[in-house]
Amino acid sequence: MRTQVGIIGGGPSGLLLSQLLHLQGIESVVLERKTQEYVLSRIRAGVLEAGTCDLLRKAKVGQNLDMVGDVHSGIDIVFNGEACNINFTRLTGGDTVTVYGQTEVTRDLYKAREAMNGVIEYSVDDVAIHDLHTTSPHISYKVDGQDKQLECDFVVGCDGYHGVSRQTIPHHQREEYESVYPFGWLGILSETPPVSDELIYAYHERGFALCSMRSPTLSRYYVQVDAGDKVEDWSDERFWDELKRRIPKQAADRLVTGPSIEKSIAPLRSFVCEPMRWQNLFLVGDAAHIVPPTGAKGLNLAASDVHYLYEAMLAYYQKGDKQGLENYSDQALSRVWKSERFAWSLTKLLHYFPEDGVFTNKMRQAEFDYLKSSQAAQSSFAESYVGLPY
Ligand code: FAD
Ligand code: DHB
Repeated sequence: MRTQVGIIGGGPSGLLLSQLLHLQGIESVVLERKTQEYVLSRIRAGVLEAGTCDLLRKAKVGQNLDMVGDVHSGIDIVFNGEACNINFTRLTGGDTVTVYGQTEVTRDLYKAREAMNGVIEYSVDDVAIHDLHTTSPHISYKVDGQDKQLECDFVVGCDGYHGVSRQTIPHHQREEYESVYPFGWLGILSETPPVSDELIYAYHERGFALCSMRSPTLSRYYVQVDAGDKVEDWSDERFWDELKRRIPKQAADRLVTGPSIEKSIAPLRSFVCEPMRWQNLFLVGDAAHIVPPTGAKGLNLAASDVHYLYEAMLAYYQKGDKQGLENYSDQALSRVWKSERFAWSLTKLLHYFPEDGVFTNKMRQAEFDYLKSSQAAQSSFAESYVGLPY
């Protein structure tokens, strides 16, 4: 099989790039290791920046987002019971974020690709990339034990942190920067009304907690747990008890609990691979970088990478202009590092770190007090949370 752009990974970034390219007459094939059902069963991101929403609209998958996406103009940050409301609209001159689940984004993209006869190969195995130094690289893979081959002009690695694409770049040609946190997030989805209209990010001596939502009848909650904890260690009852202890009393009192319909633990890490391009391979999204989820940046960064690469490919295929492809890595990394900084600093502010001493805890308190009392600090926070410009 031959195509113009071979995309490894059928998560949100691979599907979005494929859809945008298709609308401009550029062919691609997506290779996905799992089934569509499996990809849709992973409950992950919930908060979309305005830039991500605009890109989804450009990809003609904004209809359901605009119908049921919940526009938020602020969040609450609570520090040991004391609240600070960050009002994005006031602080940024009108910017907002939209609560719309990654599952829904991915489902909308699958539907659009199917409606346009986009080619997605599911359940692929043994994916390997070859001849990247030539103008005709190819990807070998297996489906149902049968060997297959995809020839293309460019290979795009949208295959997440554990994918093969990044590993194809020789060790001495890439630099990896990483920080692993000594805890994870236990998340649950429950068919209960959200405890608050706005998201609540809470620091408590027992650890971080987050109250989020998917709809007026579906809530998403997270608590910080020890790195070694297993889902089996956390009954629903234990989860609700712990959440109530970490959020403000008024919220705890009105929290509606119920059985979880999904429960999972995500480890937290900061990670960046440089460069994001090597020969004719381009890395996009989690394949190149990971942020701790505290700032809601992961999916949004994957979307901004897609934007840069899409524009670069458009210039190449429509005008023969290679400059965008040459600049892709630097351009994407510049935004990646700024979002890494934001996610890292918010993670430091809002989590309990077992190794922290009295001085560090005083600094954490001072950081919150400064945020609460300074409009400049709040504006800076809001600018990053709603998303830096592309
Ligand atoms: P992925 O979603 O990881 O997709 C990669 C795809 O590649 C997968 O489908 C995988 O099966 C496939 N694949 C892997 N290896 C291969 C292979 N060898 N061959 C073929 N296919 C392969 N981000 C936000 O912006 N906002 C949030 O609110 C937010 N909250 C989060 C909460 C949690 C608990 C977690 C865990 C993450 C959160 N994120 C959030 C991050 C966000 O989910 C990710 O950044 C996003 O999924 C990245 O998309 P991607 O397409 O780059 O990678
Ligand atoms: C959600 C996830 C996040 O990481 C975040 O910062 C906010 C909301 C969510 O899943 O709803």
